[in-house]
Amino acid sequence: MHIDIQFLPFSPDPSTLSRRTIVVIDVLRATSVIVHAISQGALEIIPVSTVEEAFQMAKNFPPGTTLLGGERGSKKIEGFDLGNSPREYIAEKVKGKRVILTTTNGTKAFHSVSSGREVIAGSFFNIGAIVRRCLDLGQDLLFFPSGDEGRFSLEDTVCGGMLIDRIAREEEGIELTDASRTARILYQRFKDNLVEAFKLSCHGNDLIAKGFEDDLAYCAQIDITDIVPTFWDGVIRAH
Ligand code: MLT
Repeated sequence: MHIDIQFLPFSPDPSTLSRRTIVVIDVLRATSVIVHAISQGALEIIPVSTVEEAFQMAKNFPPGTTLLGGERGSKKIEGFDLGNSPREYIAEKVKGKRVILTTTNGTKAFHSVSSGREVIAGSFFNIGAIVRRCLDLGQDLLFFPSGDEGRFSLEDTVCGGMLIDRIAREEEGIELTDASRTARILYQRFKDNLVEAFKLSCHGNDLIAKGFEDDLAYCAQIDITDIVPTFWDGVIRAH
């Protein structure tokens, strides 16, 4: 098995994706929201790129079945039901509901890699479940941190590094690219204090400045669910 991680969130050549499992990572906070919402009983998540698209898409579903969630500038969007804190996506609100989600980076990342053989949402919440799923699939892997408006993101790369570290420990004969080795080393630097990595990152600092500091410790929880949300035909559902 060959494992790579892409440090910048540009759209990869689709022909290189169709034989690989892709794990999209946006721990602060889009993929943490997706994993959390599905673990709390949300029916499905529809990731869309724009606010306008979200409002249009909602018209396709019967009233009361669908929630609008997401952020712009990390804040809840006017007219939406939910923002982009995983702590909002609890069973009382999302159970049995479809969520149409739009965020600055994370939801777009799914569309950039949609031709992947299997496209999975990764976060610290579901590390163990992802490792098992990737090993079961046995395909080459690409970790796809969704970045910060086109820039490198420290916290997503640390999460990718943790996944690489666990897979390389569990399976023999894994081939790592230099990028994968670098992400693994970065993870090893922060493994005892993930919140430290979050607090050093640009996006972590931005969230603190906007009053979302509690989300950092929340998103740093490891292995709290076995859910493996999978993106297929524009929709994310539990595998
Ligand atoms: C994103 O998709 O860019 C993020 O999840 C942003 C955020 O939650 O603040």
